[in-house]
Order: sequence, then structure tokens, then C-alpha cells
Amino acid sequence: MNAAAQIIKTHVGIVGGGPAGLMLSHLLSKEGVGNIVIEKRDHETIRNTHRAGILEAGSVRMLTDTGVDGRVLTEGHRHDGIDLRFNGVSHRLDFQDLVGESVWLYPQNEVFVDLAAARKRDGGDVRFSVTDSEVLDLETGVPKIRFTDADGQYFEVHADIVVGADGSQGICKKAIPAEKRSDNFIAYPFAWFGILTEAPPSAPELIYANSEHGFALISQRSAHVQRMYFQCDPNEDAGGWTDEQIWDELQKRVDGPDGFTLKRGPIFEKMVLPFRSYVCEPLRHGNLFLAGDAGHTVPPTGAKGLNLALADVKVLFEAIDSFYSTGSPELLDGYSDTALERVWKAQNFSYWMTSMLHTREDQSSFERKRILGELAGVAASRYGQQYLAEAYTGWPHR
Ligand code: PHB
Repeated sequence: MNAAAQIIKTHVGIVGGGPAGLMLSHLLSKEGVGNIVIEKRDHETIRNTHRAGILEAGSVRMLTDTGVDGRVLTEGHRHDGIDLRFNGVSHRLDFQDLVGESVWLYPQNEVFVDLAAARKRDGGDVRFSVTDSEVLDLETGVPKIRFTDADGQYFEVHADIVVGADGSQGICKKAIPAEKRSDNFIAYPFAWFGILTEAPPSAPELIYANSEHGFALISQRSAHVQRMYFQCDPNEDAGGWTDEQIWDELQKRVDGPDGFTLKRGPIFEKMVLPFRSYVCEPLRHGNLFLAGDAGHTVPPTGAKGLNLALADVKVLFEAIDSFYSTGSPELLDGYSDTALERVWKAQNFSYWMTSMLHTREDQSSFERKRILGELAGVAASRYGQQYLAEAYTGWPHR
């Protein structure tokens, strides 16, 4: 380490300035628990990173009830249901009727913008564009983070607790010795081709479509911009597709006797999103705690990624707050088990939605028809619909 390193002493050092890290910082600061957030990307890069767009009611409440911002309620859109579409026929699931909840369409980058603005407004210590970050001494009472800030100054953070909220490719999970963690994961033989298009919405709510040509999701962003995805090969080259080819592929997957037709427009963003399911166990090593994608990833089909990250943060915040207000580490000791209970429910839901809606290339006629039987079973049963609706809108926060 450079001799000129400046020491920063604080309670909690947070690696990662995405929604999970910023939300934790916001909640801790409100309770007077000192913290610092470091993030290797710059504000603009995160703001322009397109991720999923569905917030559970519990996630919305975390933003509005803790004073982050109410913009989610004015700029976001409440959705009271989705369409499950298979064999070319749509089946609406009415979330309000089924479980008395809704979700909000509000893109993850807007959540980031709101949280970053709230941290700035409240004088939070958030350092973007840091380099050479490193976490160390995790098994001691003074875990540390080293980094170089955007001006080239070296720092060493001395904390009581380090939180890894640095995403699936971050440094924190890798800092846990391989023999001290178990990596649970599966890969899927497909990915999503995602687009943003300048067009009006094609339908009032999201459509999750299963077809013999593969899965498609018709999502939205605003009155003028729409988000859509279709199942593709993980090695697909997004640049190799013309707008017309993309629209034809999407349309093929939603075609049906009702004549439903997508509203087309110019496509201004194309990307391939590979996906896998992963859980690190436990979500703790010494005084390092993992939250969000740093500890687990889900395929996007169930729209659970960001919601799960915020649910982790809620549990972790309460544990840290309790540690500082009572001196008892009990809740911190329970963090990993408590968070993992929800994580595994969400893993199952995301896996289930993914396998029920996607089509495997080598699918036998038995498997194709079994999946249609499964979809029909869910769509025709109030209990089946309720299971999906409860998981989609989000299990209650503890
Ligand atoms: C999105 O709008 O980006 C989106 C919505 C629902 C999902 C995944 C992604 O399940």
C-alpha cells in the first residue's frame, strides 16, 4: 500500500454503489450509523445500464416510506396484473383480485438515480469511479477496504463491518476463501435478446408468452418507449439482427387467433442477456456480509433480482442497526439464514417461471406438451394463479 494512504474510520464500509449499496447507506445514515460507499463505475454509466423494471410493493414502500423519493409513484406505473400467453391465447392474472397486491413498472436505473440523489441530498459519503479496490482483514474486528479515488488519492477504510453489494462480478464474494463458501449454480441453454424501441405500448400490461418458437416478454417503459425480450442462444450476436428481423421474431412468438399485433417502432438498443441461477452460502464471512447480486443471481423471468437485493438490505440494515443500538450480534448472526430463506424461494420461483415459459431446442413432444399442461394447470386454477401472483408481487417483508 502507498505510504500516503488516508485512513477513514467508520462503522460500515459498503462496496458497490448500485441500488443495494445505496439503499443500505441511506437507511444506516438515517439511524446515525456511519458508513461509506465505494463504486468503481461512474454515475452516468450506472444510470445508463438497462436492467429489469418491475418493483414489488415492498420495494416501492422502501423507497417511499424511508424518504428516498416518491417519484416511483408519480413516474412509475402501477400494474395490477400480467398476461400469461400460450397456444396464442392470453390469460390475465389479476393480482389485486388474487392476492390484493400490485407491482410497479419503474426501471432499476431510475431507482439508482433516486437513491444517488437522496444520498447526495443527505450528505452521504459515496465515492464513484474508484479503482484498485480491495477488501482485507475480513476475519478480524477491523475489516478494511482499500481503494484509489477518482483523483488518484489512496484510502484505507477501517470499519466494523464490510458489506459486499458489488454485484455478481464483484470483489467481495471472491474474497471469501473457496473452502469457506459453497457455490450453488445452474446455467441455462438460452439467453434473452432485449430491445428498447420507440413505440407506443402494445398492450396495457406485461405479456409473458410461451410459444413453440421460444419465450417472449412484452414489457414497457413509458408511453413512448417499450422494452421487449425474446429467448435466444447465449452466443447470439445482437448486432447481427435488423429491426425487421427482430420484430418478425417477436411477433411470431405472440401470434394467435386473437390477431394480437405488436406496435412496431425504431429499435435504439439491442443486447443479449445471458442468465444463470446462483447462490453463495453462507452470505457471510467473518465481518463481511454479502447483499444482492454479490451473493445470488436469478434469471430475469420472475423479475426478482432487484427486489431480492432490497429485501436483503432490509434484513441486513435491521441487523446492523440492532447491533449498534443494543450491542447484540444476534440479528447479524442470523442474517445469512434469514436472507437465504427468501433467496431460495425466489430461486425456485425464477427457475419455475423460466422452465415453464422457455422452449428448449431439443425438446421432445412429450416435454412440449407437458409444459402446455403445466401452463394450462396454472391458468385454469385460482390456486395456481395465486401462487404465481403471490411470488411475483413479493412475499411480505419480515
Ligand atoms: C423489464 O421490463 O425489463 C422486465 C420486466 C419483467 C421481467 C423482466 C424484465 O420479468
